[in-house]
Amino acid sequence: MKLCMIGTGYVGLVSGVCFSDLGNDVICVDKDLDKINLLKKGQVPIYEPGLSELVVKNYRNKKLKFSTNLKKSIQESDIIFICVGTPTKKGGTSADLSQIYNVAKEISLSINKFKIIITKSTVPVTTGDEIERIISKRNNKNRFSVVSNPEFLREGEAIRDFTYPDRIVIGSNDLKSNRVLKNLYSPLISKGAQYIHTSRRAAELIKYASNAFLATKVTFINEIANLCEKTGINVEDISIGMGLDKRIGSRFLRAGPAYGGSCFPKDTKAITSTANRFKTDLSVIKSVIRSNENRSNLLLSRVYEILNKKIKNKKITFLGVTFKANTDDMRDSSSLSMIPALSKKGAIIRYFDPTGYKKEFEKIKNVSFINNIKKSLIGSDLVIIHTEWNDFKSLNFKQIIKGKKFIIYDMRNIYSPSKIKSQGFKYFSIGR
Ligand code: UDX
Repeated sequence: MKLCMIGTGYVGLVSGVCFSDLGNDVICVDKDLDKINLLKKGQVPIYEPGLSELVVKNYRNKKLKFSTNLKKSIQESDIIFICVGTPTKKGGTSADLSQIYNVAKEISLSINKFKIIITKSTVPVTTGDEIERIISKRNNKNRFSVVSNPEFLREGEAIRDFTYPDRIVIGSNDLKSNRVLKNLYSPLISKGAQYIHTSRRAAELIKYASNAFLATKVTFINEIANLCEKTGINVEDISIGMGLDKRIGSRFLRAGPAYGGSCFPKDTKAITSTANRFKTDLSVIKSVIRSNENRSNLLLSRVYEILNKKIKNKKITFLGVTFKANTDDMRDSSSLSMIPALSKKGAIIRYFDPTGYKKEFEKIKNVSFINNIKKSLIGSDLVIIHTEWNDFKSLNFKQIIKGKKFIIYDMRNIYSPSKIKSQGFKYFSIGR
């Protein structure tokens, strides 16, 4: 099939590349010429394991094209995926849909034959209705169909998540586009993915409800971890004990820092904002947002306690600053609030991250990037394991430092407390 992906961010690029790998002819369009030129050279602007190999392979065999020409790309394709960003509105909580509606206007000017137009971007309930309204201003309704097909891939696992999804959700109000899309996804369905067809509005809400539920699960275990710390219980026992109940499930029950990334913070806010618009109070999700926003302060107060409230001139090393492992994404990472707060109190911060230097800390006083794990640790007073990269999972701290021992605050519960303590280190972790 001939597909056009509009927007080459995480969702657009990964889905486009994976669709081309399944044998479709895919054009990925972006208005950013530099990005498109880089992609044509096989250079991928995001860190995502396995992605650049697939870009190179499918670009070479001409299944994958890159372009800045939106009109031509739309006209050459049968299925158009809208994959542009829906960030939180500045100073608000609702999703900024300006990019979506601009694209809808462009599509309305370019329809030359029947098109299936799909939102893969995460969009609030009724956005599909509005896209349909915009396009029908210039086109007869039998010339196009607007469908919702939310994407559930995780950064760092994106290719696997695309190829082996738990489910494929198609929200369309007509059966013809449903048939075409079932066919498009048939290679994944035959490998075991569940395919569900719903109304367009339901598909839009499934995405938000899923992300809000996962964010709730993480926040729930984070709060239980707080209680475990006060009662001398190991939160991991709780996660295992709860997770074995099939109704609960063991995933997304790892306690840690505040959740971050490009989706959970944005989508939890957006769903409450949509609910407000429909005069419905999503009080559980609102409380999750509040709890998560407070979590970095809570962990910071633990840091102050660990250092006996003497932060000035303390050398603190962060291992990992991205919001999770296997990504270079800094969006809403809890390090973005913790590092400036510690710097303000006079700490000297060094950080190591496998994805390198971060411009986000450029202007923060006394913060420096060290390009080597060992060097970043030597001379520290406190080491904070912030992100669960494999690189940090089997460090021999005893061998690394010869002299003064640092304190370790393991925010991802990577190490066994008894093992590290037996090596003479002061060790703190989350909920145990
Ligand atoms: C998420 C959804 O999982 C994905 O389906 C959607 O398409 C996009 O949003 P992503 O943002 O890539 O994916 O990250 P995810 O792996 O879900 O983690 C989100 C946050 O929760 C991270 O900050 C992570 O560290 C945290 N988390 C996750 C925990 O703290 N504990 C867990 O057990 C799981």
